[in-house]
This record gives sequence, structure tokens and C-alpha cells, in this order.
Amino acid sequence: MKFFSAALFLSALVAQPVLAKLTWSVKGTQNGVPIPPAEIILKPFESAYGHGGGGGGGGIFNGGGPEAPPAAASVGRAARNRMVKRANPTATSANWCGSVRTATSSNKIKLIHGYFQHPTCTKRAGVTTFPQAAASWIGIDGDSSTTLLQMGTVCKIDNSTGIVRNEAWWQWVPDAAMTLATMPVHAGDWFQITINTTSATSAIISITNVNTLTAMTINLSAGTSLARIDADWIVERPAYGSGLAGFAQFTETWFQEAYATLANGASLGVLGAKQYQITGGCSSAEYDNADLSAWS
Ligand SMILES: *[C@@H]1O[C@H](CO)[C@@H](O)[C@H](O)[C@H]1NC(C)=O
Ligand SMILES: *[C@@H]1O[C@H](CO)[C@@H](O)[C@H](O)[C@H]1NC(C)=O
Ligand SMILES: *[C@@H]1O[C@H](CO)[C@@H](O)[C@H](O)[C@H]1NC(C)=O
Repeated sequence: MKFFSAALFLSALVAQPVLAKLTWSVKGTQNGVPIPPAEIILKPFESAYGHGGGGGGGGIFNGGGPEAPPAAASVGRAARNRMVKRANPTATSANWCGSVRTATSSNKIKLIHGYFQHPTCTKRAGVTTFPQAAASWIGIDGDSSTTLLQMGTVCKIDNSTGIVRNEAWWQWVPDAAMTLATMPVHAGDWFQITINTTSATSAIISITNVNTLTAMTINLSAGTSLARIDADWIVERPAYGSGLAGFAQFTETWFQEAYATLANGASLGVLGAKQYQITGGCSSAEYDNADLSAWS
């Protein structure tokens, strides 16, 4: 999601070429049975987003050794001991927490894959900004370039009653984000997502809720040209309306089977990624080349 500071937003507008109209088609299956098209419901997401503020940081995060193993095994792949390794260079961001691995423009990213568990979200103590929200997603670009193609889930705590809404969404920035209302999303559900670019301006996204066996593909065309150099696995403090949401408290989020495939067929993993932290909101660390964790 894109969240520009006023100054960035102005320069982005000035630099913005006339956009072709982003188009998409969505198909799905439930337990392998096609979902009737009339039952596939898309809605505009409530706002648009991105990678605002922060930056900088750098240096090596050497804090601590191995920590206690996680309390509970996941429904999905085997649980991992978190933070056995902390060697990625870290950076801080206002709203991104997780790994960004950057490829070269001579061997661009073709595809990104990730497998993660939608967290349980609760009100964060001491935070009075509502809504509170946390978005987990994988994506291409948005760090070294302003375009971004991303898909994931979000939890949103609407107000002081603490009611949590969970949903799946995608965004091809600068086009508006869309909510995939048909995709069930519950706290604890595991999602497998692949974003497979078919050109700089087209892609096919596959998303499966592994717990409910709901699988959907989104075929996108005429997006704003991607640089295809950043591979992102992120938990985000998203924006709602004109500013950042309060950052909800969320259960530790593992991204597993995290890899990108490059144009020449080689694979790009998590080790060596820029490891974003949100000061006072979220820490993240790599475990190995295919696994990372973010926690609040
Ligand atoms: C908060 O949520 C409750 C329950 O859904 C609703 O009745 C109320 O109008 C909401 N308040 C605000 C300010 O959104
Ligand atoms: C990605 O797209 C290419 C075509 O560009 C296709 O050959 C390949 O099978 C796709 N990979 C996956 C994992 O869907
Ligand atoms: C995706 O959509 C484009 C444009 O409509 C179409 O040409 C292409 O065949 C579609 N791809 C798949 C795999 O459905």
C-alpha cells in the first residue's frame, strides 16, 4: 500500500505519466469446485497506501542470541525457532516491517512467493488512534521504486469496541487497492500467494487460503510499469483515510517459503535482504533464506 508524505506525493504526481486503465479478471475454486462468477465479490479498499517516511537505518542488527521457541506450532508448515539468525542489514520505516531483497535491473524479478499466517489482532495498549490495523503481504517493488504490486491480508479494528475485520486485498500502485471480499480470512488461517509477472505491466496472482481450501487467481493487465527489482515480505502499518492507522497488536507473523524467481531462473531469498523495523511498533528478523518473522 502506498502512503506518501505530502512532498513525496506532489513529486509523484508531477512524475506520473498518464495511466492506462488497470484491468483484471478473477476466478476461484472452493475445494476444487469452481466458484460461480456471480459469487466473486470485489470492493474498493478503503484507501491507498505505501512506503512512507522512515528509510535510513542500516547497520547490522546483532542483538541477542537464539530466543525461546514459539509457544505453539502453526497449522501450516513446521514452526521455527525465531531469530536464530539476525544478520540482515536493518533499516527503519514508518510503516513497513519485514524483508526487502533487491535484484538488479539486468536480471529482474519474475515471480514472488510467500506463505504466511494471518495473525490474531488486538488493540495495542496505549494507542488511541482508530482504526487500528495490520496488513501482511508479499509484493514486487515499492522500495527502490514507487510502483508496487502486492497482495495480502489485513486486520482492521474499527473502533474502541475492538471489533476486528479480516480481509484479503491487492493493489497495483498507483491504482487503488481492491478487497477480495469472497476470500475467507480468519485469524490463524494460512495463505499461499504467488505473484507471477507476465510483463512489466501484467501479472497473475494466485492466492489460496490453505485452511478453507479457497483458491483464487487474479489476472491483471495494463498496470503501471514495474521495475521488478524489489521482493517484499512485509507486515505493514497501513493507512486509512488521510493518515496511518493505529498499528494493531498482532501475533507473530512468519513468512515461510519466501523466495523470488529471477528472469534467468535463479532464486532470490531472504538472506541479505534489507530488514525493516518500525520503531516502537514491529521488529523483524530473518531465520534462514526462506523464512522470516515479524512481531509487535
Ligand atoms: C463502533 O462500533 C460500533 C459497533 O459496531 C458501532 O455501533 C459504532 O457506531 C462505531 N463507532 C464509530 C465511531 O465508528
Ligand atoms: C508464471 O508464468 C509463466 C509464464 O510467464 C508460466 O510459464 C509459469 O508456469 C508461471 N509460474 C507459476 C508458478 O505459476
Ligand atoms: C490474462 O488476461 C489477458 C488479458 O485479458 C489475457 O490475454 C490472458 O490470456 C489472460 N491469462 C490467463 C492465464 O488467463
